[in-house]
Amino acid sequence: MNAPVTITPLADLRADFPGMVTADGKPWHYLDTAATAQKPQVVIDAMARALGADYATVHRGVYARSAEMTLAYEAARRKLAVFLGGHEDEVVFTRGATEAINLVAQTWGRTNLKAGDRILLSQLEHHSNIVPWQMVAAEVGAHIDVCPLTADHQIDLDAAEAMLTERHKLVAFAHVSNVVGSVLDAPRAAALAHKVGARLLLDACQSAPHMAVDVAALGCDFYVFSAHKLYGPTGIGALWARAEILAEMPPYQGGGAMIDRVTFARTTYAPPPQRFEAGTPAITEAIALAAAVDYVSAIGLDRIHAHEAALVARLRHELGAMNDVTLFGPADSAGIVSFAVGDIHPHDLGTILDESNIAIRAGHHCAQPLMDYLGVPATARASFGVYSSEADIDALMAGIARTRRIFGKG
Ligand SMILES: Cc1ncc(COP(=O)(O)O)c(C=O)c1O
Repeated sequence: MNAPVTITPLADLRADFPGMVTADGKPWHYLDTAATAQKPQVVIDAMARALGADYATVHRGVYARSAEMTLAYEAARRKLAVFLGGHEDEVVFTRGATEAINLVAQTWGRTNLKAGDRILLSQLEHHSNIVPWQMVAAEVGAHIDVCPLTADHQIDLDAAEAMLTERHKLVAFAHVSNVVGSVLDAPRAAALAHKVGARLLLDACQSAPHMAVDVAALGCDFYVFSAHKLYGPTGIGALWARAEILAEMPPYQGGGAMIDRVTFARTTYAPPPQRFEAGTPAITEAIALAAAVDYVSAIGLDRIHAHEAALVARLRHELGAMNDVTLFGPADSAGIVSFAVGDIHPHDLGTILDESNIAIRAGHHCAQPLMDYLGVPATARASFGVYSSEADIDALMAGIARTRRIFGKG
């Protein structure tokens, strides 16, 4: 078990988040950042400005405001590219991670997967990284293999190595599990995939907000995430993919903005990334996402990671000291602690904690195959963000003690 760790507070960041109080002004112990992060005022302000004084369409306007909005929208793409370590032409704005994975499945997948090909997923994937592959596999006659987990619920890359064959065309793994927080050794996963000629897609929903990213160092071919988990707005996320892969991918949806020339005889398409962004884009959301990237970059992803790692270590230490608590995932889970308290149903725990202004997630976390593997219908999950503190852990532990008393277990 880990020893308690001293936590360096991220100075007063909580004050940046207007959502971190209850309706009657009390502190809200928000421990559901893995579901969606609260928004700092700078992001709210950026979105309000973009929707207000700065608002206009992009790409097509001949007037100054539209030209400025276009510059701001494309600057957001550039900022994201720098944040991820890629090139701006490799960043496609999507509605979120779910749409990004569906985009890859329906364009790259339909083009590159044939009958008899295989896709390797893992036991801990979010439904968003399972169902789109099932859909395309059913269409083309490909098969899905499921990589098992180690005893502490990490994707077992030794098993992956033994399973991978030349028939595998794609490996799609969570960079960080949204349930148990385990961190994938992405460079090794990339090397294993590439050795058999497969591509690696990383579902980075739970890593982008919690650790510094460099897609080149990770070695992946596709990288997807949702802005709302990175302190940005809902309705936007991104797909990063290597330029040479995007260049070969057919469009996803048809419409305005993704074309080069349209005639009834034949339509030609714009180059990436515009080829994959049909219709008027999420302009204000992209600008607010850029503000969120600025916000976390100013704090520093390494600092955020260290802060959350210390909180995880302390919470796991305290929960581990209770003899009827089951802890899921490895000791170094990234920002996430999944657990069960005796036979108290996680939904009951979550409801009772809510009475004390503590918000956790209870359920299957959109990972039913992982629940089956763990042999539970649901887990309780506490997840941290930049605004989380030891006070949140104190409140959670007091709330768990209260719940145990209510259930006659105290
Ligand atoms: C690991 C993981 N993948 C995919 C998703 C789907 O993200 P979204 O619903 O924002 O598209 C989530 C969201 O919970 C997630 O945690």
